[in-house]
Amino acid sequence: MEKIQNVYDNADFFAEYKSMRDGKINANELIEIPIMKQMLPELEGKTILDLGCGEGGMSQYFAEKGAKKVVGIDVSSNMIASANVQNKHQNVQYLQLAMEELPTLTEKFDIVFSSLAFHYIEDFDLLIKNISNLLNPNGILIFSQEHPVTTATIRVDGMAKYTEIDGKRYYFLSDYNNIGKREISWNIEGVVKYHRNFEVVINAIANAGLMILEVRESKASPEAIKLVEKYKYQKDRPFFAFFKAKKI
Ligand SMILES: C[S@@+](CC[C@H](N)C(=O)[O-])C[C@H]1O[C@@H](n2cnc3c(N)ncnc32)[C@H](O)[C@@H]1O
Repeated sequence: MEKIQNVYDNADFFAEYKSMRDGKINANELIEIPIMKQMLPELEGKTILDLGCGEGGMSQYFAEKGAKKVVGIDVSSNMIASANVQNKHQNVQYLQLAMEELPTLTEKFDIVFSSLAFHYIEDFDLLIKNISNLLNPNGILIFSQEHPVTTATIRVDGMAKYTEIDGKRYYFLSDYNNIGKREISWNIEGVVKYHRNFEVVINAIANAGLMILEVRESKASPEAIKLVEKYKYQKDRPFFAFFKAKKI
């Protein structure tokens, strides 16, 4: 097992990430979060665990929508410090904790939520089993992750992500079935993410005693493309995948 990565506590990485997220014109705000919100169940009176909560935007949203108690956890002290300033709410508690340490939590939750954090976890089967143990009966897991078609290809020596023919981009998809570590350059060199195909993700959910209720794949809307032209490449090729499952 690799050491738990905490790249959001790297000063250079965090500065880049902040400048990308604070502007609000980004793929999370325009493409990913709207789909996540459509998939949410009723929040009124619920207890919610937000995994990899970052700066707490969604944790605070849950509390504003009537959640009784929200616990947001994140491995990064930078993120937890920002969350405590930017998205403070009396019903929300932020903890600096890695998802690998979930068994240290003792209470159970009605909803476990995670936005774009699971692709940092090496042992996905264990993560989903630990989440299942933390869910109340009929509890709901909702998460988004980078889509397997975007994490698949292992690129060497600055190789491009796509080729262009007659003005149309054709993206590469090699290594789709080669599950495992991907070391990429994103804000800084050497960021580690984990690629898993749909088979691995779906079987991990099923093997943890959860029933899949919904799967979504992102499509940039005409409004998003109008705001950011390059999102036209996210119209027919998904960048994000979304899963909703229920504890049975
Ligand atoms: C792309 S950010 C998403 C943040 C937030 N969910 C959002 O959508 O704004 C990924 C987050 O996952 C956190 N993270 C990465 N690895 C983690 C781990 N092993 N345990 C807990 N949090 C982790 C990072 O620190 C970061 O805050």
